Formats: sequence, C-alpha cells, structure tokens
Amino acid sequence: MAKATLTITDNRTGRSYEVPISYGTYAEYGATIRAEDLRQIKASEDDFGLMSYDPAGGNTAACRSAITFVDGDRGILRYRGYPIEELAEQSTYLEVAYLLLRGELPDHGQLDAWTREITLHTMVHESIKKFLDGFRYDAHPMGVMVGTVGALSTFYPEAKNIEDPACRATQIVRLIAKMPTLAAMAYRHQRGMPYVYPDNELSFTGNFLNLLWRTAEPRYEPDPILERALEVLFILHADHEQNCSANTMRCIGSSHPDPYSALSGAAAALYGPLHGGANEAVLRMLDRIESKDRVAAFVEGVKAGKERLMGFGHRVYKEYDPRARVIKTTADQVFCVTGVNPLLEIALELERVALNDEYFIERKLYPNVDFYSGIIYQAMGFPVDMFPVLFAIPRTAGWLAQWEELLLDSEQRINRPRQIYDGCDARDYVPLSERGVRSALEIRARGGECASPESSSSPGRAYG
Ligand code: CMC
Repeated sequence: MAKATLTITDNRTGRSYEVPISYGTYAEYGATIRAEDLRQIKASEDDFGLMSYDPAGGNTAACRSAITFVDGDRGILRYRGYPIEELAEQSTYLEVAYLLLRGELPDHGQLDAWTREITLHTMVHESIKKFLDGFRYDAHPMGVMVGTVGALSTFYPEAKNIEDPACRATQIVRLIAKMPTLAAMAYRHQRGMPYVYPDNELSFTGNFLNLLWRTAEPRYEPDPILERALEVLFILHADHEQNCSANTMRCIGSSHPDPYSALSGAAAALYGPLHGGANEAVLRMLDRIESKDRVAAFVEGVKAGKERLMGFGHRVYKEYDPRARVIKTTADQVFCVTGVNPLLEIALELERVALNDEYFIERKLYPNVDFYSGIIYQAMGFPVDMFPVLFAIPRTAGWLAQWEELLLDSEQRINRPRQIYDGCDARDYVPLSERGVRSALEIRARGGECASPESSSSPGRAYG
C-alpha cells in the first residue's frame, strides 16, 4: 500500500518536507494533513513558518467528531451512523437527542428514564416571566430566546462546573427540556397571552403544542399527525456537524463558560438568514413573489445578482439535501390536516424552474432543509418569526453533543485562529495637533505613509 504521507517542496528554498496524512472513518472522505505540520516550512531561520489560509473554514477540519456524518456530494446525512431517513421514519426526537448525546440508541429502560428526566425539567423559574416583561410587545421571538436562554446561566450558577460530568448531564437535560417552554413563552408574550404550564402526560412535541396553543380548555389534545410531523421536523434539525452555530457553540465553549451562555451564542449564530433564519426568509420571499406566474421573473432577478434564492444552496450539499426530501413527504401529511398552504404552488414552481436552469445546475444549488420547512410551519399555524425558534429547539441536542465532545477532546484548546496581517507596517505616532485634515483612509488609498506588506521589510506577523 502507498505511504500515507505528503511531500511538499518549497520552491523558495528547494527544501522538501514529508508530512503524514491521516483519515477518519472513511479513507475517501476527509484525508487531512495537520496545519501545524506546515509551520516547519520556513523561507529563512526567523520566518514564522507557513500557515494555511482558509477564510470561512471551507476546507479545514476543526475537530474530530463521531456525532454526525454529512457527504454533501452524495446527499448523505447520518447521526452516529444511522441514516437520517430511517431515524425520521421510526424514531422520536428524544430518542435521537439521546443518540446524539450518548452515542447509542436507548433501550426501553434508558428511554423511559431519559424521557422522565426531560419531562421533570420542563418548567422554568417564575422570574423568567418578569424577565420577559422587559421585552417589547413585538420583540422577535428569536431575540427573546437568545436573551432568555443566556439568562438561564444566572439561575444555575453551578453550571460553570463544566469539568464535572454529573453537572454537565444536569444542564444538558435542563436545556433540552426548557427550550420549548422558553420558545412558547416568547410566542405568547408577543400575543399578550397568559403563559401555560407544561403537561407531563404529553410527549415532547405534544407538550410544546400545548404550551403554544392551549387556551381555556382543561386539557390540550394535540393532533397526532401534527405532533408526529413536528417530531420528524425536530429529528431532521437535531444536528448538522460543523455548521455556523455548532462551530459557535464549540468556539464559545472552548473558553469554558457555562453551557447556557455558549448556547445563547449558538442560537444567535443560527438566527442569521444565511443559516437557521433562512426558513423565515423563504416565507417572506414566497409572499413577495405572490403568484406562480411571477416565478420566472424572480429567478431572472436572482441570476442577475439582485438577491439570493433563499432555501437554496449549501456549503456542503452539492446534491439534494436529504432533509428537504423527507420534509416534502411530511408536508403532504400535514396538508391533509391543515389544508394545502397556497405558497406551496409557488415553491414547487420555483424548485422546478431553478433545477432546470443552467445558473443553478452549474453551481450545484438545490433546495435545502429550509426551503419547505417554513411552508409546513405556516400551515400548522406558526407565525413566520417563530420559524428560527423552531430550528433552535431541536438543534439544542446537537449543540450540546458538540459541546460535550469538545470538552472531552484532549486535542482541543481555546479556539484561536491565526490571521494574515494585511495592515500598516510599524509607524510613529502622530500627535493630534499635527494630524491635519488627511484621514488615515486617504493616506492608505494613496499608498502613502502606510506601507503595503510587500514593501515592508518585516513580514506580517500573526502573534497575539
Ligand atoms: N441563490 C443564488 N445564488 C446562490 C445561492 C442562492 N441561494 N447560494 C449560492 N449562490 C451562488 C453564489 O452567488 C455563488 O455564485 P458565484 O460563484 O457566481 O459567485 C455560488 O453560488 C457559490 O455560493 P457561495 O456563497 O460561495 O456558497 P456558500 O457555500 O458560501 O454559501 C449558503 C452557502 C447556504 C450561505 C448559500 O447557498 C446561501 O446564501 N443560500 C441561501 C440561504 C439559505 O438557504 N441558507 C440555509 C442553509 S441550510 C440550513 C442551515 O443548516 O443553515
């Protein structure tokens, strides 16, 4: 068998270096060299050493992980080895959360104990109500979530004992259990509706529907089809390896704060329209398109660079997102109960036009998980601004699994990437009285006193 090494020749010096190549589970996926091995490659003795440049981390593995596998070229997604399609068909969200966190599917006894634990932690401290009162009546529920979940850290100060496995386990249960409660409170706050207490007899998703929709009836009975549909959507959203918010969870977690603070940051990362906020953006886009016959003109606008086709494209998937396939089937089941969302027609036409257009074919842009999820959520009665919140609730399990894996990984340290310094070389301070009218920007634009790195005698440093 050929040697698993890479030989690099530095043409500046003529020297060659041999660095090892390592693999994960699959030899054809994820062969890597260690970026640190590049540091020995120096043009001169006092050279800092070669770094790799990878803005947005598109070709850099930041960790080893055994949680989720995505093969974007083949449209494959697996949690702990299990295909997402099989989990969505046969599992519940709490089983999947257990799988992500503990590595194996639970047996009967384990699932009962896990479900009981989660159920017993669904309530939040009554002070959270007062906290919510501080938000404006029209506060975006995702902003409320980011604030309140971070605030939970002040209710559980012991959560900072992240080295203690038992303490970590308690916070994990609390977070998974309380996210739906906080989400429903954010929703009801917006509507001026009284908050509802959890019903321990209901399933995880059934109870969430109860927290949201219950009014004066003594007992809320969730529709079993909608309850199951939400379960499937929660399973599909539970984890997605090193995406922007998981990466944020790991980045914040690497400085060792409590998990509530880290998770608040992860939720903030999710909120953006390029990530979990895309489901909300898709609905607003479909609303703007208004009718099927305006789809072609809209797509022309996208191709002309006026805007993006929201719910399309993915950093990793260069094939149909497997989650979007499952969601399409779930949509049919939901529409049997709720009636068809009129926006579906526009979405289907958008998908048809885009998938046959050279612009999208060439760039391998396919519908992602957010393209159809919002249409289902809207049919179920959720307002558009709740959509990112509906993403954050199930992703909590994934964030926590990533967080704990990080903490148990002896190779991980505080997250601290390097940079290529592209700014001014060292220069003398100019006292205020002598600065005149020229702004620093003008000076730079003229290529004046601020030396470019090429003209600098000392190479850009990356210390700090
Ligand atoms: N509409 C139109 N053009 C697009 C789109 C889109 N949705 N996505 C990518 N492109 C084009 C982009 O303009 C670029 O073209 P060119 O090569 O001519 O400059 C090319 O495709 C590559 O795009 P990119 O921005 O380099 O790709 P990326 O990997 O950095 O971005 C993305 C990935 C998801 C941010 C992007 O596809 C996007 O903005 N999609 C819309 C937002 C969206 O649906 N986000 C949800 C992602 S899935 C849920 C989740 O896990 O977050």
